[in-house]
Amino acid sequence: MKYRPDDPLIAAAIAAREKAFAPYSKFKVGAALQAEDGTIVPGCNVESASYGLTICAERAAIARGVGDGFRCFTRVAVVTDTEKPTPPCGACRQLLWEFAPDAEVLLANLNGDVIRWTVRDLIPGAFDAKQLG
Ligand code: THU
Repeated sequence: MKYRPDDPLIAAAIAAREKAFAPYSKFKVGAALQAEDGTIVPGCNVESASYGLTICAERAAIARGVGDGFRCFTRVAVVTDTEKPTPPCGACRQLLWEFAPDAEVLLANLNGDVIRWTVRDLIPGAFDAKQLG
């Protein structure tokens, strides 16, 4: 499927990708979250020379959004320059579950291709605060 080129969430993720700090992998990722009031929060991957401390674009966006006072997001876009759109890693799926459980996820590339998921489909049977009692 193709995404709507005027979708502001995709546009924000494309712009965020330009800000990515990915000198080690060269794999730039842009993400954007839409909060319940419509506010769009961007994020990009930030790599570390230690490699293991790298932060993915999705989690960078969540941290920014939560720091701005948002607690729940309804749409998520992730953009990479790949032939097929890139699925979020397991760590990002967990955080998305905790802050965007009912969200639609648009995985897109720069060619206009998009794959639609829901967070619920991406992480079935997830651990969350309910298990803490
Ligand atoms: N990356 C993301 O930003 N999001 C994902 O969901 C998958 C991977 C980043 C982390 C690292 O900087 C680069 O992509 C290669 O793994």
